Amino acid sequence: MKLSEPYKIQCLIPDLPEPQEILPYLEEMHAARWYSNFGPLNSRFEAAMKSFICEGAGGPDFEVVTFTSATTALEAALRSLELREGARVLIPTLTFPATATAVINAGFVPILADVDADSWEMLPHHARETIAKQSVDVVMPVSAYGKPIPTAEWDHFVADTGIPVIADTAAALGQQPVGKHIHLAFSLHATKPFSVGEGGLLVTPDAALASRSKSWSNFGFSGPHGVISQIGTNAKMGEYYAATGLVQIERWPQVKARRQTVLDMYRDALAPLGNRIKLQESANTFIPATFVVHTGGQAPQIGKTMAEAGIHTRFWYLPPLYEHPALEGLVSGIDLTKAFPVTEELKNSLIGLPFHVFLSQQDVDDIVATLTQIL
Ligand SMILES: Cc1ncc(COP(=O)(O)O)c(C=O)c1O
Repeated sequence: MKLSEPYKIQCLIPDLPEPQEILPYLEEMHAARWYSNFGPLNSRFEAAMKSFICEGAGGPDFEVVTFTSATTALEAALRSLELREGARVLIPTLTFPATATAVINAGFVPILADVDADSWEMLPHHARETIAKQSVDVVMPVSAYGKPIPTAEWDHFVADTGIPVIADTAAALGQQPVGKHIHLAFSLHATKPFSVGEGGLLVTPDAALASRSKSWSNFGFSGPHGVISQIGTNAKMGEYYAATGLVQIERWPQVKARRQTVLDMYRDALAPLGNRIKLQESANTFIPATFVVHTGGQAPQIGKTMAEAGIHTRFWYLPPLYEHPALEGLVSGIDLTKAFPVTEELKNSLIGLPFHVFLSQQDVDDIVATLTQIL
């Protein structure tokens, strides 16, 4: 196949409601002539999200605030901690660049930590090792590829050290338990399993932080008098997106079941490859947002062969943060192989196989057959 031709099998196809499913909410919105500024649909979506998150996970009381994206939700939470300019925020090397840009846009400095070889996440022990050597003001773990972060362990870390944790759980909505101390930012972008097209959520047990974050998303206004009490921005979710979110909550059981079916097809098809392919740790306890596998250093070759066979793969979260030209300054003078040995190994091993609800058994068999040619 010529590389200019469209792929036979796409890596990711968003799964959003049909327009007619959203229409009743849009008619309601239009009748009220209220399209943004924390309108009735946004309030309903925030309230419905509270029960949705409880049902999926259980746990203590918390606030839900909508945003334009996970990136703005992360920035809002960081700013609302009211730390000094230049505060140091520990983040993993293996993540989407927005984890780092949110920190920088909030006026803080990202400090990089390596990830775990099996879960591909930065874990509490990485944070403990770093704070033993240098000062860290905030820790931002990432739910890698949608794998829920260990809530109880991070809660324990906050209780123990007093260092706040704002987790970038962008891809884990519907599967990530909430904690007693940690703040969570979710993405509702089209590429995420629970998507409204574009949007984000902050989920926090801290009502004051929720309120400052919400005010920041609305130019810094607080109270009824039309005055700003902080320098905010405009990061409010509009009513069109809230309408889609209300439908997505209704659709979630089917969305989840279809994603599980595709995952099961992969598990069966990959089984004969044995340990030539490694899945993310605890892969049988959650449904990933993107299906990334470890190929023992063969990811570039697999990507090429797949493309020639018309199969689209993605190197999600790669290159590592420190290889992005805009972020290279974070590691100047550091020996990368010594500082980040796991990431250095993972960067040629991880590859995202096609994963979405429109894949057929035949597609999965073709993908795995192509993989088998190389492994
Ligand atoms: C780990 C991670 N953080 C942040 C984001 C950004 O989310 P959003 O597009 O909602 O800003 C993404 C999106 O892919 C992500 O994967």
